[in-house]
Amino acid sequence: MSVESDSWWESAVLYQVYLRSFADGNNDGSGDIAGLRDRLPYIRSLGVKAIWVSPWYPSPMCDGGYDVADYQNVDPLFGNLQDAAALFHDAHALGLRVLVDIVPNHTSSQHPWFLKAINEPEGGPAREMYYFRDGKGPDGTEPPNNWSSAFGGPAWTRTVHADGSAGQWYLHLFAPEQPDLNWNCPQVRAEFEAILRFWSDLGADGFRLDAVPAIGKDSGLPDASIQFNDVFSPSDWPETPLWDGEIVHEVVRLWRAVARSYQPERVLLGEVIVNSPSSLARYLRGDELHSAFAFELARAPWSAKAFRTCVDDVLGGPWTGSARPTWVLSSHDEVRPVTRLASSAQGSEPLTEQDLALGTARARAAVLLMLALPGSACMYQGEELGLWQVDDLPPDILEDPIVAQTGDALKGRDGCRVPLPWAGEKEPFGFSKSTPPWLPQPSAWADLTVEHQERSQGSTLQLVREAIALRSQLPELACGQMRWLTSKPDVVGFDRGTDFVCLVNFDASPVAIPDGYTALLSSGPLTRRGQLPVNTTAWLKRQAPVPEPGRQPGVAVPL
Ligand code: NOJ
Repeated sequence: MSVESDSWWESAVLYQVYLRSFADGNNDGSGDIAGLRDRLPYIRSLGVKAIWVSPWYPSPMCDGGYDVADYQNVDPLFGNLQDAAALFHDAHALGLRVLVDIVPNHTSSQHPWFLKAINEPEGGPAREMYYFRDGKGPDGTEPPNNWSSAFGGPAWTRTVHADGSAGQWYLHLFAPEQPDLNWNCPQVRAEFEAILRFWSDLGADGFRLDAVPAIGKDSGLPDASIQFNDVFSPSDWPETPLWDGEIVHEVVRLWRAVARSYQPERVLLGEVIVNSPSSLARYLRGDELHSAFAFELARAPWSAKAFRTCVDDVLGGPWTGSARPTWVLSSHDEVRPVTRLASSAQGSEPLTEQDLALGTARARAAVLLMLALPGSACMYQGEELGLWQVDDLPPDILEDPIVAQTGDALKGRDGCRVPLPWAGEKEPFGFSKSTPPWLPQPSAWADLTVEHQERSQGSTLQLVREAIALRSQLPELACGQMRWLTSKPDVVGFDRGTDFVCLVNFDASPVAIPDGYTALLSSGPLTRRGQLPVNTTAWLKRQAPVPEPGRQPGVAVPL
């Protein structure tokens, strides 16, 4: 099967592979490219069009590989460059595209660029690639400004000379092991052009671009006028000088020019966390990114109002041309939806059976809602299995730098990165052959393995497969607008075209399916009276004749 060259990103379903936790091909307890290649037919069976693979580069793994020590190689933990080339080949043979994860804001502190910079005298040219500055105060003991790291604590670390004396400070918006690159430096720009070309030449169909707005720093590095919380978040800092400044757009245009120089054009999907639809839309102008993740749903509480607001906020952006949002409900950074949406299970208490049932019903409803929205959607591995956040990992095995940098105040993201359960009754659930996975899997995942769900009528895996298949068969879901329907405040309804309606019941009691519609698919069984139960979504198809001219289709559906 060959990969067609349409504007596939406009309405595709993508699948995020967090490599270390996907499938272990060499039985060392960590996922790798060999394991991913073995499981490509499974990904294909979901009906998705593309995969995004989390960073596979050589890395000290201080931040799950988002600390890159060599952008043109593969860490031995995951395989080698031949494996990556073979992955592109196998994926293409199955009609799947592959997006490589590019981390442009920062390198690892073990990257040769940084090692060279730190070992050369202050003011040397290699330091130009990063942000080295003198400290404030008589002995330079104060950081150069008041910026805070996304992972907690100051965004600056002081260097130490070979003789033990203190030197300049360097900037890191994330962990100290992730020094920020200076995108004003021509060499940084040239290196990344070469990196994009390297992977494009090897077979990548596009790129997921990490933390894009972080490149937009005010090069004067002035103090921010806000008080940072423990960890920073874009909604807290609308006008900070460390994020989303104009220079980032200049850089994104350079990347797009590289993408355009390939046939078919390489696709750029950005992680663009900004605080307004109009800021987001600036990244999606015709000569910038093709798409950007919309994280709003991944953070929304379970309420009709919250979900409507998220959709309005995102779609309210001035979208132009073929740019589209890529919706997400989860990722390797977010609490898994089953846990997040189980209302009583937000704290340190383990999930009860009831919490799990509630969270699962809501997560299934949320997936159907997401897959009915205009734009693309990206599902995170394990979302199709209804996995929950593993909240009881032993503290001493947590690897996320957020845990240490917040002095254990936050649990970090390891709980959504537990290796997938594929088959069998006990750990490693087919993830590895026999070696225990790098993070332990809950024994209750025996009921959630791929093998188990393939046999279980109505499983989350079967629901997701059916939904993606239907989505690709229904032309109204591939393009066009959506409109909210007149509805009860706690029932979300919207149409796509004249014949398709998506209905989500956030209310406390079942609601009737509107006359003239039948359910194509629902996230849980309808009631015996054919109503839509609470915490459930249905995709409805109009059966009645098309209304007379003049009637606004959709908006008058009585709910
Ligand atoms: C966003 C990535 O998704 C996250 O995992 C990482 O920690 C930060 N960017 C820093 O690279």
